[in-house]
Amino acid sequence: MRIIGTKDYEDMSRKAANIISAQIIMKPGCVLGLATGSTPIGTYQNLVKRYQEGDIDFSGVTTVNLDEYKGITKENDQSYYYFMNHNLFSHVNVDTNRTFLPDGTEPDADKACEEYNRVIEATGGVDLQLLGIGHNGHIGFNEPADVFKKKCHCVELSETTIKANQRFFASYDDVPKQAYTMGILTIMQARKILVVVSGEDKAAIVKEAFFGPITPKVQASVLQLHPDVTIVGDEAAFSLIKA
Ligand code: GLP
Repeated sequence: MRIIGTKDYEDMSRKAANIISAQIIMKPGCVLGLATGSTPIGTYQNLVKRYQEGDIDFSGVTTVNLDEYKGITKENDQSYYYFMNHNLFSHVNVDTNRTFLPDGTEPDADKACEEYNRVIEATGGVDLQLLGIGHNGHIGFNEPADVFKKKCHCVELSETTIKANQRFFASYDDVPKQAYTMGILTIMQARKILVVVSGEDKAAIVKEAFFGPITPKVQASVLQLHPDVTIVGDEAAFSLIKA
């Protein structure tokens, strides 16, 4: 595990974007695993800037996202489909035929998940997976559980996750209660993993996930077993550990 301490959110975002840029430069046809949530937004802004400055080229890149709410249309501005287009895809030269997310509009969970597993396998596997982390240690939408689920599956979102995501919706009732997410095995099969963490509210979970016991109750703790994980975090998120 490589831990990179940064000053603040801006610094974290720039350094995370450096790592993703290096991946794209070293392997122009790479597969990027992408994440949503508020933490990676600054990373995407920096990637857009680098693209505009001519330093990186997305034309050969394929992307697969971690998750998507179930039962939400693509046009809904809270869908992760919308998020990715808004924050990254529409600003760079990625071929949108090669940007993939689980299909949240597919009501049949088995069908949606089997299809997404097929899509990921067809890419040849993820070269670099970007991850944020939930307050309860979730990665993607893999919520605390008794087991690590291997592949794409449908999740009942936990109360903490629904409450954390409520800030993006008009009300609690508007927050979707289910989502499709990449499984833990698929995440662990990524050749490299890059975790971004920011803010004091993440300090406790950073300590628990990366320095506590490996348990499905804290799904991110499994990352301790991955051979190539880099965690880029700001001072506040690392305040309970020595970075
Ligand atoms: C969401 C996403 C996760 C994300 C997490 C943390 O529920 N499904 O992929 O990492 O919440 O989000 P934030 O970065 O806004 O704290």
